[in-house]
Amino acid sequence: MADDKSTGEVSKEEVLAALSQIEDPDLHRDIVSLGFIKDEDINICGGNVAVRIVLTTPACPVREQMKQQATELLEALHDVEHAEVNMDADVRATTMRGQKPVEGVRNIIAVASNKGGVGKSTVAVNLALALTKFGAKVGLMDADLTGPNLPTMLGVDSGLQADTGLSIVERYGVKLASIGFVLKKGLAVVWRGPMIGTGVRQLLHDMPWGEVRVRLAGVITSVQDQQVLVMVSGQNWTVMIGEQVEIHAQNEEPLSVSQLKVNDHIEVRGTQAPDQTVQAKRIRLQDSVQESVDIEDDTLDYLVIDLPPGTSDASMSMAQEAPIAGTVIVTTPNSVSLEDAMKAVMMFEKLQVPVFGVIENMSYFACPHCGERTDIFGHGGAQVTADELGLDFLGEIPLDVTVRESSDSGVPIMVSAPDSPVAQAILEIAQKIAAKTSVQHFFAQTAAAS
Ligand SMILES: Nc1ncnc2c1ncn2[C@@H]1O[C@H](COP(=O)(O)OP(=O)(O)OP(=O)(O)O)[C@@H](O)[C@H]1O
Ligand SMILES: [Mg+2]
Repeated sequence: MADDKSTGEVSKEEVLAALSQIEDPDLHRDIVSLGFIKDEDINICGGNVAVRIVLTTPACPVREQMKQQATELLEALHDVEHAEVNMDADVRATTMRGQKPVEGVRNIIAVASNKGGVGKSTVAVNLALALTKFGAKVGLMDADLTGPNLPTMLGVDSGLQADTGLSIVERYGVKLASIGFVLKKGLAVVWRGPMIGTGVRQLLHDMPWGEVRVRLAGVITSVQDQQVLVMVSGQNWTVMIGEQVEIHAQNEEPLSVSQLKVNDHIEVRGTQAPDQTVQAKRIRLQDSVQESVDIEDDTLDYLVIDLPPGTSDASMSMAQEAPIAGTVIVTTPNSVSLEDAMKAVMMFEKLQVPVFGVIENMSYFACPHCGERTDIFGHGGAQVTADELGLDFLGEIPLDVTVRESSDSGVPIMVSAPDSPVAQAILEIAQKIAAKTSVQHFFAQTAAAS
C-alpha cells in the first residue's frame, strides 16, 4: 500500500496489462493471452481489485507463485490499494485423437512399464490420490485383468461384486473399477487376447465414471423436434431431449415431447446429457442463473489407468479404445529395467500414445533414523534413459518399507503418511503430469487452429 495513490480507479485494461507480465512456465506465453483471465472475472471497486485466474489444472505446480506474483503486480499499480487474487481451474478434455471419448472423463493418464514389479500399481494408486489432493476429480481403472492388485491396495474386498456385476467403488475420494471386484478370491482366470480387449472396453466405456446431474425448473418458450427452450429467471436454456433427459410437469410423471406446450411449467432432470447440452449447461452455470438451476458436474478430470507389465494386449486395447492424454513409464534404477523401459516407450510411440516421461521408483533408500541416502541399485539411470529417448524425467520415488505395508493394509501411503518423502515425491510428479496434460491441450488447440 502506498500513501501517494490517487483516488481514481484502475481500469480493466490496466489490470490485464499488469497481469500479462506473468508467463506460464510450460507454455511460455503470458497468462492473459492464454485466456486465463476473463473480463468478467475482474472486479474493481475503488482501490480494491478482485481477479479470478482460471488455470487448466488445479494441480498446477506454480499456482501459489502465480497468485503471489499477480497480487504484487496489481498492488504495485497506481490506484490499487488491495488486490484479491483467486486461483481456480477448469480442466480441459483430451479430444485430439480419433477414438471414441470415454463418457464422463476429461483426460486419461496411463501408468506403464515393460517389466513387472517395478511399482506401476503403487504409482497409479498414489498418483490418483495425489491429484485429488489438489482438488481434481479422479478415477482409477485397473487394466491388469490377469493380476488385478488395486482392490487389495485400496482395501476393497476381492469378489465383492461377484454376484451383482461390476460397478464403481469409491475409496478415499477416488472412483475405482477393477475386474478384481467380480473375481472370487483364489479363482484363476485365463484371458485370451480378444477377451482382454472386451474387458478393457467394458471398463472404459460401460462404467459410470462421471456424470452431470442437471435439474432445472422453468417455463417452456419453444418446442421444436427434440429441442425445447426453457426460460429460467429470464434466461433461455436449450434442452435436447434424449435418453438421459426427462421432462416432468412439476413433480409429476415424465412427459413425452408431443405433450409439451409453450408456457407449460416444467422440470428437467438429466444425467449424462448429450455433449452439446452439457456444454451449454456448463456455460450457463457460470452466468447469473446459478441460483435457479441445480447442476452437479461429476465429470472426472483425470482417469488414471494401471496397466499390466509389458507390451500387453491391454495396452494395445486401451490405445485403440480411448484418447489417452499421455502415459508415464515407471522404472527402477537397474539397467535391465531401463532397457525394458525403452521398449515400452517404443510401443506407445507406435500406438501414437504420447509419453509424458519416466518415473524412477525405489530410487534410493532414505534411512528412517538418520535420513542418510543410499543408492542401493545405482542412481540416475532413469534420467539418462529419459534424456536418450528425448523424454522428460518426471521424478524419483524413494524406497520405503511403509509403501509396501500401506499397500498391503489397503491404506496407500498418500493417505497413511501424506507428509512422508514418498508422498511428497508423488505429489510433485502429479503436478508435472497435470501440467503436461494441459500443455498437450494447448498444442493440440494451436495445431487445430492453424
Ligand atoms: N517406493 C517403494 N518402496 C517400497 N516398496 C515399494 C515401492 N514401490 C512399490 N513397492 C512394493 O513393490 C511391490 C511391487 O509393486 P507394484 O505391485 O506396485 O508393482 P507393479 O509394477 O504394479 O507390479 P505388476 O507388474 O505385478 O503389476 C509391492 O509389494 C509394492 O508395495
Ligand atoms: Mg501392478
